[in-house]
Amino acid sequence: MWKSIQPAPPDSILGLTEEFKKDKNPDKVNLGVGVYKDDAGNTPVLRCVKAAEKELVETQKSKSYLPISGDPAYAAAVQRLLFGTKSEVINSARAATVHAPGGTGALRVGADLIHKFNPEARVWVSSPTWANHNGIFGAAGFEIGSYSYYNAANKGLDFDRMFSDLEKIPAGDIVVLHTCCHNPSGVDLNPDQWQEVAALAVQKGWIPFLDFAYQGFGDGVIEDRFAVEQFAAAGIDCYVASSFSKNFGLYNERTGAMTVVTPSGEEATVAMSHLKTVIRTNYSNPPAHGGLVASIILNTPDLHAMWLEELAAMRNRIVNMRKALVDGLSQQGVEGDFSYIEKQRGMFSFSGWSEDVVKQLRVNKGIYMVGGGRINLAGLTTSNIEYVCSAVAEAMKS
Ligand code: LMR
Repeated sequence: MWKSIQPAPPDSILGLTEEFKKDKNPDKVNLGVGVYKDDAGNTPVLRCVKAAEKELVETQKSKSYLPISGDPAYAAAVQRLLFGTKSEVINSARAATVHAPGGTGALRVGADLIHKFNPEARVWVSSPTWANHNGIFGAAGFEIGSYSYYNAANKGLDFDRMFSDLEKIPAGDIVVLHTCCHNPSGVDLNPDQWQEVAALAVQKGWIPFLDFAYQGFGDGVIEDRFAVEQFAAAGIDCYVASSFSKNFGLYNERTGAMTVVTPSGEEATVAMSHLKTVIRTNYSNPPAHGGLVASIILNTPDLHAMWLEELAAMRNRIVNMRKALVDGLSQQGVEGDFSYIEKQRGMFSFSGWSEDVVKQLRVNKGIYMVGGGRINLAGLTTSNIEYVCSAVAEAMKS
């Protein structure tokens, strides 16, 4: 069969990491994939994770299968993180949460679930969006459209055009929204704008599908869930794909969750039954380790506090790197107003640098960033920032 089939192109994000690994340049810098690095350039295992893993190894009695939906203690911990401990959504049991293999797995489980009952719906993603959104919803069988989001002229949000596009989306269609730390732009809605969008969803009847992969990387765990709270409180169907890859550093443990919020407990029970059939026919039940580790951390006050501290340290380091990049570019004499970099939130900044500059940086300097000029600020360190800024200055001049 394969003789007549053309190879698929490499993945636009993970394919870049493969290329980076092969690059022999000793000064190479990976600003591509959204993975946190400390100032030494390492992606550490968090101390709270190490402690929870130790406890898990010492107390775990079996590696038998988890339930199809995952460990119930994990699902409960996820819900508390998404909605807050005193949430009406939790008290009314009107959300169904399953452990999914990472944020990507969560998006796909949610996409398959919706497609089973509403295959005619269109899925609307922001322009631009994380490349894999198109891949995941397309693979689930949906037609995909896009709504305005980023304003390239001022490197901010084009809320008026976004809102007017969302006003035209018909009832029953799915609107994918980045809850915080928009990927790739780093440009987010403010609380007033979220309230307006949530009210619009109620009025128009389209279904919010929230991608929540960076909780805690914006302004804090509680601040970053503002949008989730608005949509959940609206009493409509709403989907939340969340991930612990970044905020717990559990990347390769594939630790995420799909949460379906419904208007009533009865509906949540029905949703859960179908989530289980979607999972059973795909990967049967989730990998246990990451979810158990996250549950231990979230349910142990000392470890929970340690996690919040470590998360704040990651967030603050990225904020410092934003400032260092702005200062470094101006010291190198790069023309332009780069203050937008400090206004953006999360791991990414959409630099707006041309494809030519992005290519020159990769080929000549071993500096890798995603097409469109998305920079992962966490790839910058106090040791490589000068190299990166001078390389950008050189590429901009040529
Ligand atoms: C990214 O956007 O770089 C991350 O979400 C990693 C991925 O899977 O693409």
